Amino acid sequence: MNEPDSGELDTIVAQRSSALDGEVHIGGAKNSVLKLMAACLLAEGRHVLANVPDISDVTLMCELLEAMGVTVTRADHRLVIDVPEEMDTAAPYHLVERMRASIVVLGPLLARFGKARVALPGGDDFGPRPIDMHLRALESLGAVFSTAHGDISATAEVLTGTDVVLEYPSVGATENVLMAAVRAKGRTLIHNPAREPEIGDLVNFLNQMGAQVGWAGDRLAVDGVERLAPARSTDGYRVIPDRIEAATFLAAVGMCGGSVFLRDAVADHMAMLIRKLTEMDVHIVSDAAGVRATATGRLSSADVSTLPYPGLATDYKPFLVSMLTTASGVGIVTENIFTGRFRYIDELRRMGADIRTEGHHAVVRGTERLSGAPVRAHDIRAGAALVVAGLAAEGETEVAGATHIDRGYEDLVSKLVGIGATITRR
Ligand code: EPU
Repeated sequence: MNEPDSGELDTIVAQRSSALDGEVHIGGAKNSVLKLMAACLLAEGRHVLANVPDISDVTLMCELLEAMGVTVTRADHRLVIDVPEEMDTAAPYHLVERMRASIVVLGPLLARFGKARVALPGGDDFGPRPIDMHLRALESLGAVFSTAHGDISATAEVLTGTDVVLEYPSVGATENVLMAAVRAKGRTLIHNPAREPEIGDLVNFLNQMGAQVGWAGDRLAVDGVERLAPARSTDGYRVIPDRIEAATFLAAVGMCGGSVFLRDAVADHMAMLIRKLTEMDVHIVSDAAGVRATATGRLSSADVSTLPYPGLATDYKPFLVSMLTTASGVGIVTENIFTGRFRYIDELRRMGADIRTEGHHAVVRGTERLSGAPVRAHDIRAGAALVVAGLAAEGETEVAGATHIDRGYEDLVSKLVGIGATITRR
């Protein structure tokens, strides 16, 4: 299993690799499983999740649930989550600080116990990340909040269904209000919800627990129920495949050339990315078993603009920027979700990339070849994008801070070795 805090083996060393070839398995989605784990808090009893990736963010979420009195057993990509009748309803700072996604326990705790205390998450490498929309949405259902000593305390005598309007389709706010609304009295209509595939997975999971959630056009309609129970399935509820992990391998093929089959990747979940990659001359075909990417020769540049789903995800952007650094021509990249998410560009510049940034725009002028250099991963996706760039750079690229990458990737290095990349960890 990945060790998040290990001081050793914190560096990934990538060498210039020739054409990639073979097959790689895409695991369960980090950004889905963390929310499904939180959703389990909505019902007492034994929950089973399958296709759970062996990543350190899942370890942290297990620790958070355990800190609240839940028993979690993890083996063979499955989680058995035993949720007791009585629980501690506080999420402590030392865990929330390490993983912002912890904030999604707020909705389920409020729905089930009428109270919750969650440490306020701080800023991170993407810049400030407020939770005002989470709180306003929960307030409209009847929750009352107060803050003291860095914690946010919530109470709700009763949650009542209503029209909840999100001014922006925030993924986390949608999840929090959805998980509160499933046990509210009456009907909640969530206007302008996030529509990412991971939201769809959460909706399916909640419905298997007995919730009544459906789409009313582009709104989410939730008819509150009094009780939920663990989803019934002998093999466990299967988490959807990780589209961002898939994007990582698609980018590696784009940069190194070759032909790789991504088993279990779902093309429908990344339609916009596939369009963009096609524009850049990565050839993609898909079927029910997965997605095949093939690339030969130098890629073409394209402009990139991140948007909420079904637009191009901000999480794809670091990979697209890496690809643009060696593509022919100029690509203009616009980040519309997290304004601070350009920090890794300095690292790419150390590798010889020609990138100019101006506010939330970056102009990437493709160079024939990057040059390997020591660089640092500051977050999961930026770290993986540096690894991918290293596979196409002359010489050796040492990516320090690899434990950031472990938060969202199971065996990134071995999976890349399996398709012919020259890469190791030390
Ligand atoms: N925002 C607010 N107020 C809020 C909530 C969000 O201003 O109350 C802003 C954020 O600051 C940001 C934008 O709205 O500028 C989008 O945030 P959103 O709430 O949609 O993102 P999130 O739920 O915090 C999830 C993923 C991210 C992914 C984003 C966008 C998880 C655990 N995280 O974050 O994934 O980038 O959606 O798609 O699901 C990652 O996997 O590495 C990662 C960062």
